Amino acid sequence: MAERPFTHRVRFPHFVPDACDNHVVRRLSDMKGQFNDEKTYDSLVAHEDTLLYEVYEFSAARLPGGLFSGVSVLHCGLVGDEYFMTKGHFHEVLDTAEVYHCLAGRGMMVMETPEGQTAVEELEAGVVLYVPPRWAHRSVNTLTDHDLVTLFVYPANAGHDYGTIESSGFRKLVVMRDGAPCIVDNPKWAEPSR
Ligand code: F6R
Ligand code: ZN
Repeated sequence: MAERPFTHRVRFPHFVPDACDNHVVRRLSDMKGQFNDEKTYDSLVAHEDTLLYEVYEFSAARLPGGLFSGVSVLHCGLVGDEYFMTKGHFHEVLDTAEVYHCLAGRGMMVMETPEGQTAVEELEAGVVLYVPPRWAHRSVNTLTDHDLVTLFVYPANAGHDYGTIESSGFRKLVVMRDGAPCIVDNPKWAEPSR
């Protein structure tokens, strides 16, 4: 049977949807091994398991060709010189894309393909980013006083492969240098075992 159309509101200034099917909460402790400065990470987690980001997802679509959408609110802060960021993932079905619309804040989307191509795109309110099929993606909040808020849409059959990034990391990191964001090679990046 056909699914029913629906609407929801995503309103200034917080952009938290007025409803959702799935609410994901990720804290510092969910990011073990992802930040480069492990000593600082461990002492921060021991002191307080800070809330990093929340995702409000509309994930009820069940029919072939359906789309999931939602809003991600990434808080600001640093682990050593590395900005707060999402876990990041490949889509399990690699040949699926995603669109992000930045609603508030400022940041970067760090992306890479399994073949080793890398890309980093700046995000600020109004920017619409197309992440093509095959590109892993991670949002980074490069402000220290404001959330990075993005709205995303992707195919409902995409699925998420978190494991590859958990074990290998991204090839590029976004760190603060002299008060400004700077893209550097990840010294701990490891070739994925496939
Ligand atoms: C979905 C997607 C976003 C992210 C969200 C949180 O495919 O890319 O909804 O899920 O920005 O990031 P992760 O999922 O990497 O924790
Ligand atoms: Zn995705």
